[in-house]
Amino acid sequence: MKKIEVQTTILQYDSAAELSTADALLLRHAQDALRLSYSPYSRFQVGAAVHMQNGEILEGANYENAAYPLCICAEQSLLAAASARFPGIAVESLAITIHSETKNIDRPAAPCGACRQVICETEQKNKQSIRIILQGETGPIIVIEKGSDLLPLAFDGSFLPD
Ligand code: THU
Repeated sequence: MKKIEVQTTILQYDSAAELSTADALLLRHAQDALRLSYSPYSRFQVGAAVHMQNGEILEGANYENAAYPLCICAEQSLLAAASARFPGIAVESLAITIHSETKNIDRPAAPCGACRQVICETEQKNKQSIRIILQGETGPIIVIEKGSDLLPLAFDGSFLPD
């Protein structure tokens, strides 16, 4: 038997003032994107912003549906939109923040499992890791250097026919 340890490095900051200028700016865009959220069912807004390799910043948000399983997460709607808007241009960083109408969220809400899968696919497609910056309504900010750190043993296209 061989034991394999998987390690994830999470950088935690007390406030946005400690972030690099670029990360702080992207987080402000994610906060701005909260207004784009269509979330009448969960009343949980997720705002996201990406910084593209060409310097562009795009914003996106969650997009819900009365048929609940059709709700689209902010990360997924934004990464698809970014790929369509700037085909072939890599995503360098992704900032995500949240606002709940029903309670105070005092910690960052990390991307759900499906979003982690989509983030990893985007990293592989673009051959570029994505820096992830997360903030709750209050509490610390966390930064993860690459999306693949959030999804050990990921399934990917290498398992599928060439
Ligand atoms: N949501 C996201 O936008 N991203 C995630 O990673 C988790 C959940 C959204 C989907 C839905 O609109 C609401 O949050 C509640 O699940």
